[in-house]
Amino acid sequence: MAHLIEKPLSIARDHLLLKLRCDGAPAPRPGQFVNIKAAPGTDPLVRRPFSIFDYSEGIMEIVIRVVGRGTRLISEFCAGAQIDMLGPLGRGFTLINGGRALMVGGGVGNAPLFFLAKELKRRGTSVSFVYGARTADLIYCKDRFASAADEFLISTDDGSEGRGGYCTETGCKLLTGGTFDRVYVCGPTPMMAGMVRLAADNPAPIEVSLENYFGCGVGLCSGCTVETATGQRRACVDGPVMDARAINWDSLSER
Ligand SMILES: Cc1cc2nc3c(=O)[nH]c(=O)nc-3n(C[C@H](O)[C@H](O)[C@H](O)COP(=O)(O)OP(=O)(O)OC[C@H]3O[C@@H](n4cnc5c(N)ncnc54)[C@H](O)[C@@H]3O)c2cc1C
Ligand code: FES
Repeated sequence: MAHLIEKPLSIARDHLLLKLRCDGAPAPRPGQFVNIKAAPGTDPLVRRPFSIFDYSEGIMEIVIRVVGRGTRLISEFCAGAQIDMLGPLGRGFTLINGGRALMVGGGVGNAPLFFLAKELKRRGTSVSFVYGARTADLIYCKDRFASAADEFLISTDDGSEGRGGYCTETGCKLLTGGTFDRVYVCGPTPMMAGMVRLAADNPAPIEVSLENYFGCGVGLCSGCTVETATGQRRACVDGPVMDARAINWDSLSER
């Protein structure tokens, strides 16, 4: 259980920031997620998974993009509301000490990379961050992202802010122009698959945080199964963070 400290705050078109106090729960690691019940009872039945955007001393922040019934119900939560929430769940990102990290985020998939960037910076890692969005009015918390990175670039598909074109292209230019110890990617499945394809010849390990459909979120239903080089894996317990090069991206994009 957690409770909402203040009314969900609008941070961009269709995007809200939820600030929760979650006393008693273990501190999360970057890349883990929480599973929220959008309403009491059975409609909607399954919880909705969300990445952790930030966490400090019992206060967790989550970015919600309102896309359907569950996220709409969550957007209507009132200040002080008790939130039926499980977590932190899943396997987070590999944390490195020192060196250089490249992060490439797409849309709401930038959210878990913010928490990661802050943590890596604390560990002395130099962070280059490419923040991708479809268009300027979907960009949220820009100043917070910029302050968590040593190098921060915005890329919009339509060129309305920052560089024009896909964030994967900007990310790949940075990757080929420098030496990175690890690459972290989160966003829509085709965007993550594209980044892995563009970086095929680069030796840096790449981790992605998958945002495919989840059912139970705790390893019981197999609704989130992903084909990998080492067999079928459940994204909710074996991920959501996985080795990008081990994933069979064709099988994911067929869904
Ligand atoms: C590990 C993980 C972390 C996530 N982190 C975040 C986050 O930080 N912030 C955030 O806003 N969302 C995040 N998501 C996605 C979020 O869980 C879904 O958007 C949400 O469950 C949709 O619920 P709904 O009832 O509003 O939409 P529904 O009514 O279930 O669906 C509405 C529309 O969204 C599509 N949709 C629903 N879920 C997904 C999905 N997982 N992937 C692609 N399309 C989907 C449906 O096809 C439909 O078109 C994450 C998902 C996962 C698995
Ligand atoms: S969502 Fe049920 S096993 Fe992963």
